[in-house]
Amino acid sequence: MPNSIFLSPKNIKKELSRNGLYFQTLKLEWQMSCAPEDVAFNYADIAHSDHVHDAMYDKPIVVTNDVGILIRTQKIWSFLKIPILLAGYSYEKYRHCTYFSLYGIHVINEVRMLPHDSLLSTKIESHYHVGMPIFLLWLRPLIHSLLKRNFIALSKDDRQIRERRGQLRENGCDFRVHSNALNFGPGFQQITEIDTENVIVAKDNCSQKEQLSIDLNKVESQMVFLGTDIFGVQLMKEGDKILVYPRICFHEGACLDNATKRNANLICPWHGKKIPPCITYEFETGQTEYAPNNKYYSMNVENGVINIYFQSS
Ligand code: FES
Ligand SMILES: [Fe+2]
Repeated sequence: MPNSIFLSPKNIKKELSRNGLYFQTLKLEWQMSCAPEDVAFNYADIAHSDHVHDAMYDKPIVVTNDVGILIRTQKIWSFLKIPILLAGYSYEKYRHCTYFSLYGIHVINEVRMLPHDSLLSTKIESHYHVGMPIFLLWLRPLIHSLLKRNFIALSKDDRQIRERRGQLRENGCDFRVHSNALNFGPGFQQITEIDTENVIVAKDNCSQKEQLSIDLNKVESQMVFLGTDIFGVQLMKEGDKILVYPRICFHEGACLDNATKRNANLICPWHGKKIPPCITYEFETGQTEYAPNNKYYSMNVENGVINIYFQSS
């Protein structure tokens, strides 16, 4: 049972109305190919704002697995950024609330994630309850249009995260469920711990060793991709070494195919984790070195051919 108090959007609205605010609700909808958990994950994922969205930057103040209180710097136009104090939490399974107030205007975003058609299809309903004192009511059309514009922009940016996770589920992967008060998945705090691996690799799909092979002399200074973007690898030659990287970030599942490379590390596009090569092979010595956290990949070189094996356990 939850041991925290979560005020539902309805009750926040009731409380504020009692204090003289006038409310109107703007309802916006979106549909995505992912599970409701993937949408919920994204709401709990404070750390992605800085890497995925141009229009906002979040600085956490208090983050537990149940709630995130943060300062959001929201870009309205290129010349105008405003800081907002914002609280986000799930108050019921598949129900998320984001609440902020700004210059006397209060916005309660009640998000409903509705499983739709199939397991990997979710309808997202955002009900923006916008409350303001009577003398600010003339601002309502402007506030509604800014919220709508923001909703469309953020949903577009977030779609790739949510649907990538849906795609991983489709391939049999799963994600570690965090024990927050509602016990259905995302924990705000745990997502910020980027060194943890929360992707559960599809054991059924690859309980056998999968082998990927390439001629040694076909590896160049440009990245070469082998296998699928979930279970495959990417490799390149650097000096007298071959560097082998995964194509997936095991923190929360980002695809690393277009990740920026800085020094010997890939930089994960979702939360900025530095990902070193899982295997380094030296031509001269024939030595193979594995990254300490490498669980899945092994490699050998035979008759000028590199064989890389993926095994989930
Ligand atoms: S998915 Fe979080 S750092 Fe890569
Ligand atoms: Fe987002």
